[in-house]
Amino acid sequence: MEKLEQLYEGKAKRIYRTTDEEVVWVSYKDSATAFNGEKKAEIAGKGRLNNEISSILFELLKEKGIDSHFVKRVSETEQLVKKVTIIPLEVVVRNIAAGSLSKRTGIPEGQILPRTIVEFYYKNDDLGDPLITEEHIDIMNLATREQLSQISEHAIQINEVLTSYFVQKNVKLVDFKLEFGTDANGNLMLADEISPDTCRLWDAETNEKLDKDVFRRGLGSLTDAYEKILQRLGGLSCTK
Ligand code: C5P
Repeated sequence: MEKLEQLYEGKAKRIYRTTDEEVVWVSYKDSATAFNGEKKAEIAGKGRLNNEISSILFELLKEKGIDSHFVKRVSETEQLVKKVTIIPLEVVVRNIAAGSLSKRTGIPEGQILPRTIVEFYYKNDDLGDPLITEEHIDIMNLATREQLSQISEHAIQINEVLTSYFVQKNVKLVDFKLEFGTDANGNLMLADEISPDTCRLWDAETNEKLDKDVFRRGLGSLTDAYEKILQRLGGLSCTK
């Protein structure tokens, strides 16, 4: 399969057409952004770390019977994925209070939630990705009721697989964001990436942050934190 022209450039990835109409070539960038693009930096090695971690996690989900757009990793910074139309929702799963949940509700960061919750945000940069309800999704036709219930079900299953996997790696999966898409036949599937950019990951003993909060809050080296995650997942260490 050959990599053809660029179709799209996002904040963290570039997407290229391939000789296979149903597959696109994803290249992970070294750019880091936070607060809806207000904070930006180029961080050498970040693209590789996210590609490696995301590939490991998509492979794990596949082994556990959860399909995604992921086809295969093709290089240190690239992977092939099935072409999908992204549903404009950010699906956030939370196990422990942090981030916008703590800010919005006052539940202290670090408090274990009585049960896992799933939230929906409207993926729209101009509006700042607002939290929305199922009724909003319905009246805006962002997803059908059936898609939404499938999305919630998948999100909970994915959480179960990832939580128990990370526990074995001495990492707490605090929360994470998923995106879903539909292929040419209308099949719903998990898409985008699962990486320390899209998850909150804390060391199980020290609660050290090993995710994008390191960059958001200026807590140290993002690549050192992501490298620790990659190593715990059994990935190859990054050459600095
Ligand atoms: O900021 P908030 O607490 O709502 O984030 C919840 C989770 O979703 C975090 O793991 C964060 O990294 C992820 N997220 C994301 N992309 C966004 C917003 C949140 O990956 N645009």
